[in-house]
Formats: sequence, structure tokens, C-alpha cells
Amino acid sequence: MPSGTDSRYLIEAAGLGKVYQRGNEEVIALRNVNLSIMPGEFTVIIGPSGSGKSTLLHLLGGIDRPTNGELRVTGIDLIAASEAALTRFRRDNIGFVFQFYNLLPSLNALDNVILPLLAKGMSWKDSRARGTAILEQVGLHHRQMHTPGQLSGGEQQRVAIARAMVLEPCFILADEPTGDLDSISANSIIALMVDLNQRLGVTFIVATHNLNLLQVASRSYVLVDGLLNTAHTG
Ligand SMILES: Nc1ncnc2c1ncn2[C@@H]1O[C@H](COP(=O)(O)OP(=O)(O)OP(=O)(O)O)[C@@H](O)[C@H]1O
Ligand SMILES: [Mg+2]
Repeated sequence: MPSGTDSRYLIEAAGLGKVYQRGNEEVIALRNVNLSIMPGEFTVIIGPSGSGKSTLLHLLGGIDRPTNGELRVTGIDLIAASEAALTRFRRDNIGFVFQFYNLLPSLNALDNVILPLLAKGMSWKDSRARGTAILEQVGLHHRQMHTPGQLSGGEQQRVAIARAMVLEPCFILADEPTGDLDSISANSIIALMVDLNQRLGVTFIVATHNLNLLQVASRSYVLVDGLLNTAHTG
């Protein structure tokens, strides 16, 4: 960023915009978004369907590129980065959590969690030890041999959070992580994310419709029609 760059920030976005081309039609998904996030924060972004929440998370995670603006994440300029650099950036820096968990149905919880470690070349023995320790952190030590079909929705989301944490990313992007859960399970996932944030310092950026998340955020924003504003929760 040409001016005002502050290396204490994990994320610095200025004037960020995203326009999708759908046939002849231009869909403006994000307009002039300014956002700075420090390590250790618990950021919540709420907004109606179609307001641009997923689009914003995709830009911050290097899944998609902005149409305009400036974006520096973990000190890396994501506008200038090559495709290969973006792939490396995603793998090394970001954990992703999705609404529908995205676990592999044929693998048990432990194997789902350690897959990224094995893919990176860690030994089976070290991967299992680390996976077991992370499953303990999310309260699922007793379910590690269960496949996703043998777990409740809330338990599956705990596995997905463990998988997102296993490579020790700089932050976790969670897109509607409670959207598929009943309110009791949703509240327990919120409590888990707060616990991981406070106890282990895991940085979360969560896009959601769940207003309960506003109560636990260290910083919260509202997205409406692609425009980001600070949320007033008082
Ligand atoms: N690949 C795409 N091509 C064209 N338009 C898109 C594409 N992806 C998203 N959009 C449009 O961009 C806008 C923002 O979409 P986005 O998915 O970011 O919203 P959202 O806030 O995550 O919504 P929801 O709460 O329903 O998940 C919407 O108008 C959507 O139709
Ligand atoms: Mg979305």
C-alpha cells in the first residue's frame, strides 16, 4: 500500500471493489470497502443475503481477486501476487470454515483433520499426534474415529474448525458457520470460536446472519449492497 501501511495489521484493505460480469450485466458485489484487522481480533460481518459477505471473505482469503482497490494480507500484496503465490498464500496463511462443513464423508474425524498435514509431508505418526491434540481443543477427542455421517451437525463443524486450525493459519475465515445448525448447536459453535480466540489467540473473521455473533465480536461490521459500515451493537 502506498501510504499508511502498518505492519501490525494482518489485513489492510482500501477502496476494495468487486464487479462480477454475468453476460452483458455487471453485478457490483463490493464497493469501496476499507477494512483493517489486527491479529487476535474476532471480526463479525453481518448483512442480508446477496450483500457481498462471501465475496469479501473470498477476496481476503485469496480465493478470488478484487476488481479495484488495494489489499495486503499478512504483508503480501494480493493484487500483485501471481497465481502460484496466491495458492501458496491460501495454503500457508488461511483456514476456511464453511456452512456445510465440507468434510470428506469416507474419512473419520481424525483423518479429515490431518489430511492437510499429510499433504504437506508430515509423517503419519506426527500428524496423528497433532490431529488428536487439535480435536481435544475443539472438545471432540472422544469422536475422532467417527465418520461425518456418524456425527451431529455441530460435531461436524467442530471437526471442520479443527481442520482449519491444523496448519496454524494466521486467521480463520468462517462463512456462515452456524447457518446449518439449530440454535443450541449454533450457540455452542459460537462459544467454541470465542474460547479458541480467547484461550489460543486464534483470529476469526466470520460472515453470518446470526445476530448472536455480534455480542461476542471484538469488532463488527454491516454489509449492505456491497458497502461496509461499522455495526453499532449497543
Ligand atoms: N460468480 C458470480 N458471478 C456473478 N455474480 C455473483 C457471483 N458471485 C456472487 N455474485 C453476486 O454478488 C452479490 C454478492 O454475493 P455474495 O455471495 O457475496 O453475497 P452474500 O452476502 O454472501 O449472500 P448470502 O448471505 O446469501 O450468502 C450477489 O448479488 C450475487 O448474486
Ligand atoms: Mg454468502
